[in-house]
Amino acid sequence: MRRTSIGSHTSITVHLDAGDLRQALCRDVLAGLGAVHKSLPPKWFYDERGSQLFDEITRLDEYYPTRRETEILQREAPTIARRTGATTLLELGSGTSTKTKLILDALMDAGTLAHIVPFDVCEAIVREALPVLAARYPGVQVDGVVGDFEQHLGLLEMGDHTLVAFLGGTIGNLSPVERSKFLRELADQMHSGDWLLLGTDLVKDPARLVAAYADAAGVTAAFNLNVLRVLNRELEGNLVLEHFGHVAQWRPEEQWIEMHLRSLRAQEARLDVLGLDLVFAAGEQLQTEISAKFTLASIENELSGAGLTLEEVFTDAAQDFAVSLAFKP
Ligand code: AVJ
Repeated sequence: MRRTSIGSHTSITVHLDAGDLRQALCRDVLAGLGAVHKSLPPKWFYDERGSQLFDEITRLDEYYPTRRETEILQREAPTIARRTGATTLLELGSGTSTKTKLILDALMDAGTLAHIVPFDVCEAIVREALPVLAARYPGVQVDGVVGDFEQHLGLLEMGDHTLVAFLGGTIGNLSPVERSKFLRELADQMHSGDWLLLGTDLVKDPARLVAAYADAAGVTAAFNLNVLRVLNRELEGNLVLEHFGHVAQWRPEEQWIEMHLRSLRAQEARLDVLGLDLVFAAGEQLQTEISAKFTLASIENELSGAGLTLEEVFTDAAQDFAVSLAFKP
């Protein structure tokens, strides 16, 4: 781990460098593609192209979560700032911090903001965010952290009056077991009186859910297929994207959307870096993502299971999305 100061008010700490990332990818690919039911963790979608495609997804008509969450934050940011009086804002999966600026602006207006910690798995994105945040919030200390929120939470130093923001519904990408472990670790790391602001997509008409993950323009399909490009590039693979199709399904028993890549024919491929030969039967599916949807009751349950107390749930008028504010007692 290394912390590097950049100028007087910014620093970056890297828990995860390019070598660590490659190792993690190798591990995930060996475990996930070596299994009988093939799967890959969704975090490998997000190389530069994948992040751009996700950005495009957020502007699609069918993909409501980003718009709904933004609408909620626009309306409630002053309340959240007043209620929390936070001095530190720690954002998990911060990316370009677009939505978080609404909260940061409100904390700045309230006069409490002293410290911003953008935390993301992508070093380039954290490096880009630092000067932007420092310029927009003069006098505020900005300490970027590059890490994986499933591995490096324990290394975060939380100051007092911290507001942890985990937005976008990204928590839905974790399996229920991963999710409770993550929430428990996060709660353990928080100090008494710290706050969590959690964005979650809500259960709704399956047709709308499926449309949000299988848009007419095919952007989500391109995003899903992008993980194969990542494998080809990083692991010297020869997967043929045209030989896979995009699948998005609602699983009512699990209350989540599942994305898969379906092999359109019997085929073989190889990942040279791993010396791994892959065999796909015609119609075989490789799971690339789950995106869990919640109810107001399930959110409260999961938060209290982790030792957090729900203060308030903010939703949009259509009850499509929820932003929950909880505190550590
Ligand atoms: C970035 C995790 C919130 O699950 O809705 C969008 C990712 N996948 N379309 C989600 C995603 C397919 C997105 N999150």
